[in-house]
Amino acid sequence: AALFKPERPNSKGYDLRHRPTLHALDKGRDAFRAHRWQAGPLLAVEAPQGADETVTNPADPADTVGSVALATPEGVRAAAQAAQPWQADAATRAHILNAAADLYEAHRDELFAILHREAGKTLLDAVAELREAVDFLRYYAAGADGAPPRGTFACISPWNFPLAIFTGQISAALAAGNAVLAKPAEQTPLVAFRAVELLHEAGVPRAALQLLPGGGDIGAALTACGGVDGVAFTGSTETAQAIHRSMATYLAPGAPLIAETGGLNAMIVDSTALPEQAVQAIVESAFQSAGQRCSALRCLYVQEDVADTVLEMLKGAMSALETGDPWQVATDVGPVIDAEARAGILSHIEQARAEGRVLHALDTPAQGHFVPATLIRVPGIEALEREIFGPVLHVATFKAARLDAVIDAINATGYGLTFGLMTRIDDRVQHVTDRVHAGNLYVNRNQIGAIVGSQPFGGEGLSGTGPKAGGPLYLDRFRRQPAPGADA
Ligand code: NAD
Ligand code: ALA
Repeated sequence: AALFKPERPNSKGYDLRHRPTLHALDKGRDAFRAHRWQAGPLLAVEAPQGADETVTNPADPADTVGSVALATPEGVRAAAQAAQPWQADAATRAHILNAAADLYEAHRDELFAILHREAGKTLLDAVAELREAVDFLRYYAAGADGAPPRGTFACISPWNFPLAIFTGQISAALAAGNAVLAKPAEQTPLVAFRAVELLHEAGVPRAALQLLPGGGDIGAALTACGGVDGVAFTGSTETAQAIHRSMATYLAPGAPLIAETGGLNAMIVDSTALPEQAVQAIVESAFQSAGQRCSALRCLYVQEDVADTVLEMLKGAMSALETGDPWQVATDVGPVIDAEARAGILSHIEQARAEGRVLHALDTPAQGHFVPATLIRVPGIEALEREIFGPVLHVATFKAARLDAVIDAINATGYGLTFGLMTRIDDRVQHVTDRVHAGNLYVNRNQIGAIVGSQPFGGEGLSGTGPKAGGPLYLDRFRRQPAPGADA
């Protein structure tokens, strides 16, 4: 793959400790506090629409954020027929994607407001999300070249990065010259709708980018649709497996599936780690974004000798977290996405509580889809039967002599997304990172928030197919590959 370098590798950030900056961000959103957005399919052709659905705020279900007209299976078929790969030359495509990045930044306040009210994102998360989306646009724009596209890609995305991952998938497919049929998660259609409007405004033709809001039925219709030449999917491992089966049945042999899926991510803290540094990394990895990151820390292993100290400090640091309305700048932990997610996580916590394994839990507001940030004792990662997608951290202790057994247990989950190691022993870094199966390994820092271009992100095993998003190999999967033996 050709290596490429964007002119501006990463978007500008904001120093949220600088009061005037924070004040400007805070006030900028005011106009959107009670706004109601309206969304629906954005197609290149007339097609029947489905029912209207109301979108509510996960922190306050009485707050109506907007409504969305759903796409229909007939709309999927019509959109696939109307889709046309983006004919513009590579330089024009890059120019337009960069213009879209500028438009995203210009609409910062509105996008933040939707991210708070539709997806429950805190200000810190919303800032990171917008930056990542903009980075994807500029990074893939820099990689656009004259290689032939595949044709039409279905891009199916999750609610937990409803702007960044949504934009990452479609900007890669578009940079490579494909037509895109974009299906956002059913929980977050409004921010996706505004993103596609901005991409169209920047100059992406409608036939090259169509939006089909809806649920799993619309996703399933896309993966069984004759006009689709490849699928980019991010979401749960189970859905990726269903898509794989559907593609094998309905799409042409060789149609690529790029799947980025879930994780059961671990961190090991040994007795040489700096406790303050470890605790900060643990809190960020487990509780930022209310634990609703595929990369989030799920199972912490602390060496027995330092466990009492680290766990006491961890409980103290957790108690300092503010859980509440993500619109408020002081909030650290927002809500989970919906009532169903909340019920599933609470039942996991209640089971642990009944077994006497809850070590610490925070209070939450009475209204809204909040889950208490919770620390649960487990014997080891093998006790986790599934990815608990919320602010719940499991903790186990280990004896130094059992380090390799811990690594084996982590690998035995079959997932391989992120992994963290806190140690001051150089040889141990080498030993552990050589053995752990994970796409992204982090040493002496948190294990979330991979940066486009410098930290390509993606897992192995049950966590994804590769290639990594935000890395130089990603765009190649969206290009037609020469037949084996053909001249390059
Ligand atoms: P999900 O699998 O329930 O849904 C993801 C998308 O797939 C949604 O748009 C949904 O409507 C669609 N879908 C559902 N059923 C479908 C079907 N049969 N055919 C086609 N599409 C279908 O996932 P989610 O709950 O939205 O997201 C959370 C999951 O995503 C977690 O498991 C998380 O770990 C994972 N995730 C992974 C990454 C990564 O980069 N590896 C990033 C973010 C989230
Ligand atoms: N790319 C996201 C992270 O690294 C999922 O946290």
